[in-house]
Amino acid sequence: MCGIVAYVGPREAYPILIKGLYRLEYRGYDSAGICLVRKNDLKIYKCKGKVSELETHLSGKDVSGTIGMAHTRWATHGEPSVINAHPHSSQNKSLSIIHNGIIENYAVLRSELKNRGYHFTSETDTEVLIHLIEDIQTNEKVPVEEAVRIALNQVIGAYAIVVLSKGCPDKIIAARKGSPLVVGIGKDEFFVASDATPIIEYTDNVVFMNDEEIAIIERDKPLKIKTITNQDKTPYVQKLEINLGEIEKGGFDHFMLKEIFEQPRSIRDSMRGRLHADLGFVTLGGIHDYEQKILNADRIIMTACGTSWHAALVGEYLIEDLVRIPVEVEYSSEFRYRNPVIHENDIVIAISQSGETADTLAAIELAKSKGATVLGICNVVGSSIARATHAGVYTHAGPEIGVASTKAFTAQVSVLVLFGLLLAQKKGTIPQSQFYRLLHELNAIPSKVETILKLNDQIRNIARIYKDVKNSLYLGRGYNFPVALEGALKLKEISYIHAEGYPAAEMKHGPIALIDESMPVFFIAPKRGTYEKMITNIEEVKARKGKIIAIITRGDETLKKMADHYIEIPDTDEMLVPLLATIPLQLISYHIAVMRNCNVDQPRNLAKSVTVE
Ligand code: AGP
Repeated sequence: MCGIVAYVGPREAYPILIKGLYRLEYRGYDSAGICLVRKNDLKIYKCKGKVSELETHLSGKDVSGTIGMAHTRWATHGEPSVINAHPHSSQNKSLSIIHNGIIENYAVLRSELKNRGYHFTSETDTEVLIHLIEDIQTNEKVPVEEAVRIALNQVIGAYAIVVLSKGCPDKIIAARKGSPLVVGIGKDEFFVASDATPIIEYTDNVVFMNDEEIAIIERDKPLKIKTITNQDKTPYVQKLEINLGEIEKGGFDHFMLKEIFEQPRSIRDSMRGRLHADLGFVTLGGIHDYEQKILNADRIIMTACGTSWHAALVGEYLIEDLVRIPVEVEYSSEFRYRNPVIHENDIVIAISQSGETADTLAAIELAKSKGATVLGICNVVGSSIARATHAGVYTHAGPEIGVASTKAFTAQVSVLVLFGLLLAQKKGTIPQSQFYRLLHELNAIPSKVETILKLNDQIRNIARIYKDVKNSLYLGRGYNFPVALEGALKLKEISYIHAEGYPAAEMKHGPIALIDESMPVFFIAPKRGTYEKMITNIEEVKARKGKIIAIITRGDETLKKMADHYIEIPDTDEMLVPLLATIPLQLISYHIAVMRNCNVDQPRNLAKSVTVE
């Protein structure tokens, strides 16, 4: 899940490229590199590590040029190193490439090219592609864009690439399949990037490239798009909906903390124009045409990965409870390969913040190939999943830069609550009184989140006590089991502490053996649903001297006495507790990670959107 950016125009390319890399660094930060075209030469600089190391390495060097490309890497083939860093060059040094994705048949192509006398300097799959393009250009005597097109017809896998040629100092060739790519169109300049964040400050006119499309971008000429099967396409120019302020830290130390504190707004925005509490209805325009099909569905299958999968699990509880349609929740990576039974009358809902997760995209294609109706719940407008699904709902949480997903999760859950309420009203599966009460309860959530955020200092103090633990457990029941999973994931991915989430009653079937005085156990125990059962589970852990940190309903004196530490959340309906109980768990993980000097926004080994399988 690398980040790629390129520029051609009247300005100096270097400052635009470096700034673009910083914007894309959440996609991967193992190594970085840049290629500038000038005086019929390709000038390439590469560094292991973060973009800041590349910038330091380049200080004082000649980085002039008004056309160039740059890359920040998340290693898939070949360890993080200068050799494996992008850009990679052709053997004759006349071509250079940056790539995001995986060339699955690279080993076969590599040995064929070796037999044709090509030498490989790196372990990457990407280097194979630039040698292949050189080989075609040399033997077929075709322009670079045609060589790229022919080469891409021999490639199996996912790619977003940019190719520069020293013979064409005014031309950028870009292409995509599976990995995202956006072209920004300025007055007399062009930008290419993995997403819109490096482009917004220069133009809001963009083209989201589709799979198997090639962009031929030339200085002072109109943008040309064609398919790898040589069909000309008319570029579909769209206006960007995000603004610069949204991708800055806004005075917070980290994007993750900023995004946690944005949740009152992002939850409100996810419901804006959809939740009409006073008028007593819900509307989801994006799936309006499919409402009947959903209501008549035999089954709803939700497919997602990571945090989005946890949101789907909350969605299962919600929809079965509210709408009485059976719901199955699938890990996309398993769903796509386990030969699942999918019927034409099934509704498949793909949930993804980035809208670019490869396994979820593949799960969508599988479901579509079986005739199912596929809907999407995405955050990134114009993303591949948004364009691959029949219809869907955007979560409107705004750009999420921190690798650990926070506001996207609560926005996904809000949309799933709206989805459940919409169908419940249409189907009449819950009493009108409950429906109206839930509308008002949901409407009150953003201000309840604000009150929880005011506990940040208290939560930091609790985090300080547990910052050095080696392991931890998260327990919840019903709607809060997925919250336990999400809390554990947050701690794992940003503080590197081993953490596991469980249905609280599962403890007795094994995990309770882990409990001793060094094991912190986070209980999500609101005074709702199976509260009494949770009390028993807390007793069981206390009996083994486990440390109890409980998320409790404000004023719950019983649990205040039982817990070693507690965080009070406002009361709300059982179905909506996940929207509140998640917040303290996000903050605990954040503070523990900061105190352990972890890179909160860019945790090791992770990337924001997983565009390869
Ligand atoms: C969550 O904090 C992680 N960043 C990761 O698990 C993420 O949720 C997963 O990769 C799915 O991403 P998506 O929602 O963009 O598809």
